[in-house]
Amino acid sequence: MCGIVGYVGAKPAEGVVIEGLRRLEYRGYDSAGIALVDGGTIVSDKRAGKLANLEKAIVDSPLPQVTTGIGHTRWATHGPPTDRNAHPHLGRARRVALVHNGIIENFAELRQRLESEGVEMASDTDTEVAAHLLEEQLETGVDLTVAMQNVCRDLEGAFTLVAVDSQDPDRVVAARRNSPLVVGIGEGENFLGSDVAAFIEHTREAMELDQDQVVTITREGVSVSGFDGTPAEGRRYHVDWDLSAAEKDGHDWFMRKEIFEQPRAVADSLLGRRGTDGLLQLDEMRLSDQDLRDIDKIIIIAAGTSFYAGMVAKYAIEHWCRIPVEVELASEFRYRDPILTASTLVVAISQSGETADTLQAIRHARVQRSKVLAICNTNGSTIPRESDGVIYTHAGPEIGVASTKGFLTQLVACYLLALYLAQVKGTRYGDEISQVMDQLEEMPGHIETVLAKAEEVYALARDHVDNRSVLFLGRHAGYPVALEGALKLKEIAYLHAEGFAAGELKHGPIALVEEGLPILCVVPPRGRDQLHDKMISGIQEVRARGARTLCLAEEGDTAITPYADVLITLPQVPVLLQPLVAVVPLQLFACELATQLGHDVDQPRNLAKSVTVE
Ligand code: AGP
Repeated sequence: MCGIVGYVGAKPAEGVVIEGLRRLEYRGYDSAGIALVDGGTIVSDKRAGKLANLEKAIVDSPLPQVTTGIGHTRWATHGPPTDRNAHPHLGRARRVALVHNGIIENFAELRQRLESEGVEMASDTDTEVAAHLLEEQLETGVDLTVAMQNVCRDLEGAFTLVAVDSQDPDRVVAARRNSPLVVGIGEGENFLGSDVAAFIEHTREAMELDQDQVVTITREGVSVSGFDGTPAEGRRYHVDWDLSAAEKDGHDWFMRKEIFEQPRAVADSLLGRRGTDGLLQLDEMRLSDQDLRDIDKIIIIAAGTSFYAGMVAKYAIEHWCRIPVEVELASEFRYRDPILTASTLVVAISQSGETADTLQAIRHARVQRSKVLAICNTNGSTIPRESDGVIYTHAGPEIGVASTKGFLTQLVACYLLALYLAQVKGTRYGDEISQVMDQLEEMPGHIETVLAKAEEVYALARDHVDNRSVLFLGRHAGYPVALEGALKLKEIAYLHAEGFAAGELKHGPIALVEEGLPILCVVPPRGRDQLHDKMISGIQEVRARGARTLCLAEEGDTAITPYADVLITLPQVPVLLQPLVAVVPLQLFACELATQLGHDVDQPRNLAKSVTVE
């Protein structure tokens, strides 16, 4: 997500900060800004768009050559990517400058309080409230470190904050809760960064912080405390990566890094969705409850991986809300003259928000007076802008062309939409909705459990480097998972890979099965006995014909053991949520197989991240 840099030392801070931001560009961003402390005042510049826009502005209007500063590249979440929403944000007396990564969940109530006290907001962001609160604290006479501790105790959500005080030019203070921050330790200088890439050209000595800690850097040293002021110790370590590995957090590919970021991405996408009254709230839904009650049909349109997320959504929405759902490839949608009315809700799923097929489809739907809701990962992109409402996923920028964390967070958004519709339409009781939300909030932990077994999956992938064809089988919500597993393998390993609904096998695809053909089978949880048993029958059928069955099944599922040549266990989760864990081994499998085959995993041949032509 956002990139953060902080510096205090002997070098010109402008150069260190801008260079640090450049090293963090790979994280993706849509605006950039810098603030320097210059003899009692804050000097700041910030621009929408690429870092080059900020650099040009600085050439036109040079900054002072001072040695304390902070910088930021923003990935928009609250408010579009404009100059005014770019960070740093300043307090009203311009004493404090602050940059932020994450989401301050209770910003609306804090903003309301500040506004009632006469503070005029200069942006649409959740961040700005923290700048005003810090300044309020400083006015009581405490220093920036104590001010940060006090403010953080009042903030909810996930955040990294980095701030400077114009009256205290030798100190930069940061805080973290569930959002990345590392300290770089130099000689007579110290650094802060979202990751070590921000400062690796200056120092390879780093310090890791725990959650809910505040860190103060000066030229002379680094001190750490809890939000309550209790002194604490950071964990020092030496970075032995080169710059390109540092950008990828030590991983060889962005895709692999993004697979491992999924627990965080899922958790972030769930943040702030439950109000204080326990009800679900989707802040940019913009469709009224009455609009939603009037909906009698939903059509989901999307392409590629996003289409598979839509297929899972159909199972969830129909089950929880009893509304008929069609899922349609965006490229086919408007050419079949779909039946659309004012009571049809069209849901467009797009990670990038720029896919031309999906964009043309929503334009067609709006002309027919249907309401359009976007599920999107890119704030301010065209599809959400042209929709009536939007649910933003919070995966952060996805650099690898093959979507991974984008998919998981789309699934989360689809579940949220389904539960929200159930709440508005009253098709589920409040406690049932809360129960599913509790289960969703446990999913990051379950995904971690799957990731902890990555080596097992890599070994399996290495065993299959000589195979030219791989099949995937699934049923119910596992069927789109099978399709997505096959797509991943096609995209990056360039192998023939097909996903099938297990029940369809006998209607044709079983003719493909021959001795030794690997088939990855997504076995549903046992809670749905018929489904589970039917899947086992499908597995038996292919195994009887010589296939090598590589089965993903929940922990404790002994019924599958006799039919699995290889068994990868998944955590026990409800059937509708199983895609969130079941797809992860398939992503790891494709990533490792493509690596073994020597392919460029992040930029596969013939593919583009954002397909802006029809
Ligand atoms: C996923 O791995 C692909 N790169 C591709 O199928 C992608 O999901 C599709 O092009 C849709 O993109 P969007 O989500 O940005 O609209």
